[in-house]
Amino acid sequence: MDILRAEHIRKNFGSQHVLTDLNFSVSKHSIFGLIGKNGSGKTTTMKMILGLIKPTSGSIYVCGEKVAYGDTPTNRHIGYLPDVPEFYGYMTAREYLKLCGEITGVRRSEIHKRTDELLCLVGLNGVNRKIHSYSRGMKQRLGIAQALLNEPELLICDEVTSALDPVGRKEILDLLSAAGKRATVIFSTHILSDVERICDQIGVLNNGQLELQGPLNEIKQDYRQEALQIETLTPDQAPVLAAHLKALPFISKAEVSGRTVNVQLNHYEENSLDIIRLLASESIPILKYERLEPTLENVFMDVIR
Ligand SMILES: Nc1ncnc2c1ncn2[C@@H]1O[C@H](COP(=O)(O)OP(=O)(O)OP(=O)(O)O)[C@@H](O)[C@H]1O
Ligand SMILES: [Mg+2]
Repeated sequence: MDILRAEHIRKNFGSQHVLTDLNFSVSKHSIFGLIGKNGSGKTTTMKMILGLIKPTSGSIYVCGEKVAYGDTPTNRHIGYLPDVPEFYGYMTAREYLKLCGEITGVRRSEIHKRTDELLCLVGLNGVNRKIHSYSRGMKQRLGIAQALLNEPELLICDEVTSALDPVGRKEILDLLSAAGKRATVIFSTHILSDVERICDQIGVLNNGQLELQGPLNEIKQDYRQEALQIETLTPDQAPVLAAHLKALPFISKAEVSGRTVNVQLNHYEENSLDIIRLLASESIPILKYERLEPTLENVFMDVIR
């Protein structure tokens, strides 16, 4: 079942058309990566799902209920971590979560238990310092705990990893993976390797629409760039090999970089033997021969080109 559906969303800010016809759905229990360049409309999309921004036209449904602009009842299904979360720095994490629990109507008998559980989940149990002394990564982890306090079905995180160092990013990604076991997660970013690590579904926002969406592994296969990397024994052999490769009709590109030749070709499976035969007949010794896996980077560059 779809937990989220956006239908024909348009959003203009004055004369600027940020979203022109946004359509997408997110199925339950997925981790959905919303990818787009700076200014492509990721934050705007997330704020519309939360009823914080009014679409110029179109409708959004959360758990089958239509989102209303303003204090929308659909937010009871949602936990939200904004791109720049604000906390009360003079509190400890435990005090802050308790306050958030009280404000959002978590039952008193539940608050203590849930606070303990979430502090453990995000690795902040036993940290008794005030929040103002936390690192960025710790603040993001507290933000995730706060967003999960209401046991939401949908967790929306806006660029949670973008400002973090690799260690902090890994911690947050592991945490989002764990959160994905209890909630559907929508996660916006422009760091494609983060998406590849945890998302199973992606949507690429470009030109005001989701230009590409679906399961990450299928999209990578569909966009499979047939690419090879061949490393010759010595640098002088690489240009010779490249020249021979370029003469083959199924090879579209053979570029030399040091002793490596980067090759692009059509129909690898049908043609691979011809390449091996060429290497043998021209007596070109090789150190490495590798068919390259498609990366999300290739897919993304292809879509936004
Ligand atoms: N309240 C607003 N008033 C006017 N323009 C706005 C407003 N909010 C966003 N915009 C514009 O809409 C476009 C999309 O902004 P948005 O913040 O949604 O992009 P984004 O994909 O989240 O970008 P980033 O990667 O930088 O976070 C930008 O050009 C931005 O300047
Ligand atoms: Mg943004």
